[in-house]
Amino acid sequence: MKWLKSLLKKRGGNYYTNTVTYWEKRYANGGHSGSGSYGENAEYKATFLNTFVQDFNIDSVIEFGSGDGHQLSLARYPQYIGLDVSVTAIKMCMQQFSEDNTKSFFLYHPATFKESSHLFKSDLALSLDVIYHLMEDELYHQYMSDLFNTARQYVIIYAYDVDEVKSSHVRHRKFSSWIDQFAKEWQPLEWKVAIKKPSGAANFYIYIKLS
Ligand SMILES: C[S@@+](CC[C@H](N)C(=O)[O-])C[C@H]1O[C@@H](n2cnc3c(N)ncnc32)[C@H](O)[C@@H]1O
Repeated sequence: MKWLKSLLKKRGGNYYTNTVTYWEKRYANGGHSGSGSYGENAEYKATFLNTFVQDFNIDSVIEFGSGDGHQLSLARYPQYIGLDVSVTAIKMCMQQFSEDNTKSFFLYHPATFKESSHLFKSDLALSLDVIYHLMEDELYHQYMSDLFNTARQYVIIYAYDVDEVKSSHVRHRKFSSWIDQFAKEWQPLEWKVAIKKPSGAANFYIYIKLS
């Protein structure tokens, strides 16, 4: 089985099993959210999102896959709920933002999330650098359903809208096809900010709910 281990070997000896385990192990072993959440990528994402929140008078934001808190430290949102599948990541955010009463964090697992009473309903739902890490089809379908079901007015996805398997933990999804099929009341919204996009950065996709 040596060949299999070397095939599946990830950094720090973290072997890929499934999406949830991969991320929990990654954070528990001292890893972070990735290069997309630091440096110029993080600045770019924050400028785009903070401007959108201000220009569209967004009061509440929910994020599916909130990460280690670094990207979030640049955010200027009136109210924020962060959900993540990693216990370690949620604990890191709870600690980092312990004095910040505008931010709440919850452990999320798509198989144990039922939102009937609109407790989590927010003006804007975010998915930033997460969709292409959802390797399992069922997990992806549930994640997308929860993302759109909790959004009152807008959804912003930061990812690549193509179908392509890149590695054991990166699988791009043509999520616009999922939205066409399962979230028909949502339409793409064209909106831009005059900022330079870092080379290789993913794309922002904004969706607005038709009333
Ligand atoms: C690349 S990080 C991005 C973190 C943050 N959104 C950012 O932009 O900095 C991906 C995050 O998604 C989380 N994640 C993975 N699968 C998830 C799922 N099915 N639901 C929610 N979060 C998930 C991981 O634990 C990780 O924190």
